[in-house]
Amino acid sequence: MQMDYAQSFTFFPIPTDIRFGVGMLAKLPAVVAEQGATKAFVVTDPGIAASGLLDRVLAVLREGNVAADVCADVKADSSSTLLDRTAAAVKAAGAGVVIGLGGGSSLDSAKAIAALATNPGSCTDYVGMSKLRNRALPIIAIPTTAGTGSEVTYWSIFTDEGSGLKLAIGSFFIYPTVALCDPELTLGLPAALTAATGMDALAHAIECCTNNACQPISRALALDAVRLIGQHLRGAVLNGRNLEARYGMMLASTMAGMAMNPTRLGLAHALAMPLGSWDLHVPHGVVLAVLLPMVMEYNYRAAPERFVAVARALGQRLDGLDRLAAARTAVTAVRALTEDIGIPRDFAAWGFAERHIAPAVTEAMKSGNIPVNPRTVVSGDVENMLRALL
Ligand SMILES: [Fe+2]
Repeated sequence: MQMDYAQSFTFFPIPTDIRFGVGMLAKLPAVVAEQGATKAFVVTDPGIAASGLLDRVLAVLREGNVAADVCADVKADSSSTLLDRTAAAVKAAGAGVVIGLGGGSSLDSAKAIAALATNPGSCTDYVGMSKLRNRALPIIAIPTTAGTGSEVTYWSIFTDEGSGLKLAIGSFFIYPTVALCDPELTLGLPAALTAATGMDALAHAIECCTNNACQPISRALALDAVRLIGQHLRGAVLNGRNLEARYGMMLASTMAGMAMNPTRLGLAHALAMPLGSWDLHVPHGVVLAVLLPMVMEYNYRAAPERFVAVARALGQRLDGLDRLAAARTAVTAVRALTEDIGIPRDFAAWGFAERHIAPAVTEAMKSGNIPVNPRTVVSGDVENMLRALL
């Protein structure tokens, strides 16, 4: 790719200390002690409790003489009332650190809860960028999926139970203090969840490195995440016990999370918020898996050289192809990947209907992901894109 020597950029600080490796969970008590805490509060969801992972984490904490209270009630896309209620419980318990254990919903919930333990009021008071006044309690993020990158981002997404809308708190005060990334924890993740969350990570990486805000540092991280996902997502889905594939996917997810902090994303992520809202609640990864190839098809002509770089990272053979044809192989490669890993073709299973299209487009167009999308987004085009899924 050509060097854009006219570009100036910033790369946000990432204060999160990343502890990555198979078996890293054993270090958890030491990580809690480093924060000066003797009592932890674990935030997770019923699926993690049922899988036995929560018991495993609690046993590790007990053996390390760390007391722990637990909230295992996190719902998909989190909930404003749960966040407010659990923050009160964290304060009452006198916990010195909040541990998020799970997928994006649990990690995002832990981040917001840790923030509400040190900031007055409700999570809905802090929607938007940089509204929090005080640093959150120390947060240890332990991902059990390879997708959201939430363990290294400054975002917390939740559902406002009043409006049914998905909302976001963005603040440097909610970066996790430590991301404890142990690929072994994803070995039992079911194939469909592995596929959807893996496609979320791929969407982070591709939207990041093809959008107009990308710069060389994010691009390096994102393109290597694309390469890792191209190499490992099929293996992780088709043979969940493949530790090498799980390692590659967790690494990719964390790298894509770091990459996207300063760049935002693009049209697919702009649509993910409304399509996960109201009565729909299409899982975030499914939205991205379905929309990513469509959005890439929409975008690639606007910045073909960026899509050529994605195609190369996905191992496409580009010999003899002109620039546009080479760029388009990135789209076909992603489409082939979604077919191989069994992604749904549309949102029919979630009741997606004509009546959702106009409000989804209206909400999406307000997103900060729209101005950075490589192609100028026209709302009529987005309507047509969604209508093709009916
Ligand atoms: Fe995402």
